[in-house]
Amino acid sequence: HDEMIRHARQVLSDNDRGAYTVPTHGLYPFQWNWDSALSALGFAHYDEPRAWTEIETLLDHQWDDGMVPHIIFHAPDDGYFPGPEVWGTGRAVPTTGITQPPVAGFAVRRIHDRARDSALAGRQARALLPKIHAWHQWFYRCRDPEGTGLVALLHPWESGRDNSVDWDDAFDRVPIDGVGEFTRRDTAHANPAHRPTDGQYKRYIWLVQKFKSLGWDNTKLHDASPFKVVDPGFNAILIRACEDVADLAARLGMEEIAKESRAMADKGVAAMESLWSDELGQYLCYDRAEGKLIPSASIGGVLAAFAPIPKHRITALVRRIEELGEVCNYLIPSHDPRAPEFDGLRYWRGPVWLIVNFMVADGLQRAGEREIIDRIMGDCLRLIETSGFAEYHDPVTAEPCGGAHFTWTAAMIIEILH
Ligand code: DGY
Repeated sequence: HDEMIRHARQVLSDNDRGAYTVPTHGLYPFQWNWDSALSALGFAHYDEPRAWTEIETLLDHQWDDGMVPHIIFHAPDDGYFPGPEVWGTGRAVPTTGITQPPVAGFAVRRIHDRARDSALAGRQARALLPKIHAWHQWFYRCRDPEGTGLVALLHPWESGRDNSVDWDDAFDRVPIDGVGEFTRRDTAHANPAHRPTDGQYKRYIWLVQKFKSLGWDNTKLHDASPFKVVDPGFNAILIRACEDVADLAARLGMEEIAKESRAMADKGVAAMESLWSDELGQYLCYDRAEGKLIPSASIGGVLAAFAPIPKHRITALVRRIEELGEVCNYLIPSHDPRAPEFDGLRYWRGPVWLIVNFMVADGLQRAGEREIIDRIMGDCLRLIETSGFAEYHDPVTAEPCGGAHFTWTAAMIIEILH
């Protein structure tokens, strides 16, 4: 294991650009939001100042309305599409105009609570919590305008699970007219069979153009978007982050933040119940534009375990994961291998992602589900031993997929092995 940790640290250091890390050289040459926050967990085990810097840099690029963008284009790189000119958000340091799963609140609490330098941790947490809290408030204000307790995603890229089967039907309603010619760059860095399709890319870009035409005004985007999906995994991350912020803020004497965060978390947990499916034994996405649940057996509904959901729901999710464990060799597949849409190589339509395994296991830990946690963590280590620090892996064959030498995969290994 020492050798594996040494290797993982090498990956982090190779992808370190000073004040931020890139997910991997070539395919993703900028700072990505949730990649950064989760990668900070890895740094924190051996370089706490560097871990804090990672999150500080991310929050330095927060918008005035509270949104924290999904990509920060720190330095030009023409090896990525869609770059800053496509987004046109008009920021001095260019960013995209959409967001990503808000794991930063969770990461800050975790890094703070186990810090060796507690003075530094206290200072950093005090500076970061108000910004993270403003981001969480932005979510409930702009992505849940009717106050349901659940936020909607307006672009599949916001979910982090870009081409999940979950979005297929809702995404089909996104038109492609007016999307001009463009050249994808991702397929020059990674095997096209591991990536989203050209048809999906046209729709990704249509949505970007639509939001750009509205001046990236977040008071307008929610109602104007034809794609509005509530993802249980995403909401679970937000709820968990609110809970973590509430807990830490209370200990740091930041009473108002603590109170408001707690209220958002409680409301979210209650609202999650509306997404539960007895039939599939997991949570489901909800298509807000159509007003119906999406019967898709994907990892989003299992990732819900990351939130403080009721114990009987955790128990049911453990059953669900055990069931998945019988039909693949490596937990947890991002889509049910028995479903017709399953594709073990294609990004979020089947492959295993270590960050998801980590978050699910962390949630189950709170409920004391030891046996399944050991299986999930053991599978993570076997995957990396067999196939290296890939972006994601085939849950049946362990084939390494997407980008190689991947920052958050390495960070998760450091986290698991400590
Ligand atoms: C990509 O470019 O594939 C990213 O996932 C978008 O965030």
